[in-house]
Amino acid sequence: MSDTSPDGWEDLPELRTAPMLGHDGIDQDHARVAAAIDRLLSAASRSEFSRRTNDLIEIWRDHCAYEEALMQESGYPDFEAHRKEHRALSNELAMFLLTSGRDGLNDRRVLFRYLWGWFEMHSDGQDSQLAAFLNRETR
Ligand SMILES: [Fe+2]
Ligand SMILES: [Fe+2]
Repeated sequence: MSDTSPDGWEDLPELRTAPMLGHDGIDQDHARVAAAIDRLLSAASRSEFSRRTNDLIEIWRDHCAYEEALMQESGYPDFEAHRKEHRALSNELAMFLLTSGRDGLNDRRVLFRYLWGWFEMHSDGQDSQLAAFLNRETR
């Protein structure tokens, strides 16, 4: 297994970039999450995989805290629902990576589909509503 082309890496669908929501701070943060997902997917060893798993969880949690601060500052009406989804997603991510994600090095397709589905579901839903609200507020 080499650093540049771990097993199964060649078979992955094209790497994605985070959807742009039109709010600079959120978009920059999402690019960080997306980069952490890509780094995890290209982990070339178990130790790298486990380190990058922790990095992704940490970056995700920081990102949730950032959005939650934005929501509180702006009086966002769906704050509780959004925060609840952040918590559920954080728990789900940690569980996935600790259990089925253990085999991530063996089945990158599963990992790829799961992580991008997990991230895009929230970006396209709660986050795009939040970005639209914040953009209205600053206009
Ligand atoms: Fe969010
Ligand atoms: Fe987000």
